Amino acid sequence: MSLPAYLDERRQAVETALTTCIPDAPPVIVDAMRYSLLGGGKRLRPVLALSACEAVQRREGPDAWAMAMPVACAVEMIHTYSLIHDDLPAMDDDSLRRGRPTSHVVHGEGMAILAGDGLQAEAFALLAREPVSDDPRIAVRKLAALQTMAEAAGAAGMVGGQALDLAADPKHARPQQAPPAPVMDAQALADMHARKTGALIRASVIAGAIMGGATDPALAALDRYAREIGLAFQIVDDILDVEGASADLGKTAGKDAASGKPTYVGLYGLDRSRELAAGCLHRAEAALADAPLDGARLAGIARWIVDRRT
Ligand code: IPE
Ligand code: IPE
Ligand code: MG
Ligand code: MG
Ligand code: MG
Repeated sequence: MSLPAYLDERRQAVETALTTCIPDAPPVIVDAMRYSLLGGGKRLRPVLALSACEAVQRREGPDAWAMAMPVACAVEMIHTYSLIHDDLPAMDDDSLRRGRPTSHVVHGEGMAILAGDGLQAEAFALLAREPVSDDPRIAVRKLAALQTMAEAAGAAGMVGGQALDLAADPKHARPQQAPPAPVMDAQALADMHARKTGALIRASVIAGAIMGGATDPALAALDRYAREIGLAFQIVDDILDVEGASADLGKTAGKDAASGKPTYVGLYGLDRSRELAAGCLHRAEAALADAPLDGARLAGIARWIVDRRT
């Protein structure tokens, strides 16, 4: 099966599973949660969770997905919440997401905040609940996956990265006595990207692999792989913000420079940024090369991350 067909098959399975993930709750919040969760997106993170599970089980298809689908859906819910909040006027102030008006434009700011909050809480309920099993070994895996996801979503991960991004924004309201945010050097920028974007991508891979029963050597290799593709993903996001068109990206292009955001393109320029993303890909492939798993699909996804145009 070609990589595009492989990705499509998993995306479709994820789309179907996601429709069951919104709780029975007041329609006013259900509508806002559904609008963002079921409104498109590349579904990279859930596909990574399914692929990592398949890679350690050395078996492709629905049998492997049964273990990893809750993790796949949970990470997409957390990611979607992060996008809703990222687009708020208090953060990036964006009006276009996934080709449609952003949550706060449609539902109002308060409801957008709550839709994000609701998606995040529901993601953790899902991780605790599913896959339903009496097997204590499955309970141990679920707990490890839940911890992985919580740490990635939290202040040491995505939230921390978003906080660094916000603090560096010249328009961010700061107390009068606070010194201006220092200009980010290479190390600081890599750290911010690793947290704001890398952490959830890493958690997708690691939690998917944990649900597949990965051994410690397999997890160690996947950790190295995932850190590289997580950084590469945000470097390419920075590049596409400059090179892409809003119609293709489904979000406002040119936003980073206009907002004075610290980005790879801003620090290194386009050509060097592309080289740095290619370096990440090279190291991701090397991490998979001698790992005790079937890494061909994960390697294909890494290449797709670096080559993508949307
Ligand atoms: C956008 O993520 C936000 C970043 C972390 C760069 P994606 O590019 O995966 O967005 P969707 O899910 O496809 O909309
Ligand atoms: C956002 O990074 C990362 C998140 C945690 C949502 P960006 O602000 O660059 O994402 P886009 O470009 O708006 O999708
Ligand atoms: Mg942002
Ligand atoms: Mg943004
Ligand atoms: Mg961006």
